[in-house]
Amino acid sequence: MFSVSGKVAIVTGGAQGIGLAIVKELLQNDAKGIAILDIKADLGERVVEEINNEFGIGKAIFLNVDVRHRNEVECAMKKTVAHFKHLDIVVNNAGIFNDIEWEKSIEVNLTGTSNGTVLAFKHYLPSHKSGNEGVILNIASIAAVPPSFPYLPIYSATKSGVVSLTRSLGHSAHYQRNKVRIMALCPNYTTTEMAPPEQNRYMMPEFFNFQTQLNLESPPVWQQPEHVAKAAVEIMEKGKTGSVWISEYSNAPYEIEMYFTKK
Ligand SMILES: NC(=O)c1ccc[n+]([C@@H]2O[C@H](COP(=O)([O-])OP(=O)(O)OC[C@H]3O[C@@H](n4cnc5c(N)ncnc54)[C@H](O)[C@@H]3O)[C@@H](O)[C@H]2O)c1
Repeated sequence: MFSVSGKVAIVTGGAQGIGLAIVKELLQNDAKGIAILDIKADLGERVVEEINNEFGIGKAIFLNVDVRHRNEVECAMKKTVAHFKHLDIVVNNAGIFNDIEWEKSIEVNLTGTSNGTVLAFKHYLPSHKSGNEGVILNIASIAAVPPSFPYLPIYSATKSGVVSLTRSLGHSAHYQRNKVRIMALCPNYTTTEMAPPEQNRYMMPEFFNFQTQLNLESPPVWQQPEHVAKAAVEIMEKGKTGSVWISEYSNAPYEIEMYFTKK
């Protein structure tokens, strides 16, 4: 079985929240080194200093990257390989909730994840993995899983796209050729800066009111980013390629089937 021990990883959006928790969980499981890609340069540099104090000098590097730009992501992959000699794992975690600025949401959540996925899948993992396999983990959302989330249309669309991208590239025929496993993890409500979202990030005020009402009727159960991070490492190690997983409440991650039946 694949082990994250001794492996080199990239985590996008790794300066805080779920991404930072995944960085720490990888290092707690003896990863060799991590490149954190984020737009928050001050925070990212500070976090890397803290991580290197806690886990050892040189364990993490920060790269100021906006995942919306393919050339920046590719440059970061080259720098990661130059610094750590290998690249084994890419976690495409950077994401936003902003249904008001839908172009930006699509660019960060779907274009950004596609940049990290396609570059890793076609070249950087097959060419630079240290062992038999490379791994891509895409952070989608429970909003990609039926039934629909009527108050989050753009966010849901981007995250459904992430799941479809993962399932397409996760076909076993691709794995036979390049030995890259690709999985999607769909977290439910997680306590981070992003959630609960601010009212002015919803497409319409009515959508915020709609979700608020539903949450009053059935209050959400929150998980901590550390819980998602444990799920993430478990899936990197044992998930089969193309699989889609949910992390929620205090449950262990579980795999879901994504198919439709005729009415
Ligand atoms: N918090 C939740 O309830 C929840 C639930 C399901 C899925 N998710 C997903 O988990 C992922 C992490 O979210 P989080 O909750 O930790 O949020 P967060 O806001 O705490 O962290 C997101 C990180 O992504 C970075 N980022 C944003 N745009 C970027 C860009 N263009 N390029 C590079 N980095 C960028 C931010 O600077 C930040 O460090 C996201 O993809 C989000 O959609 C979150």
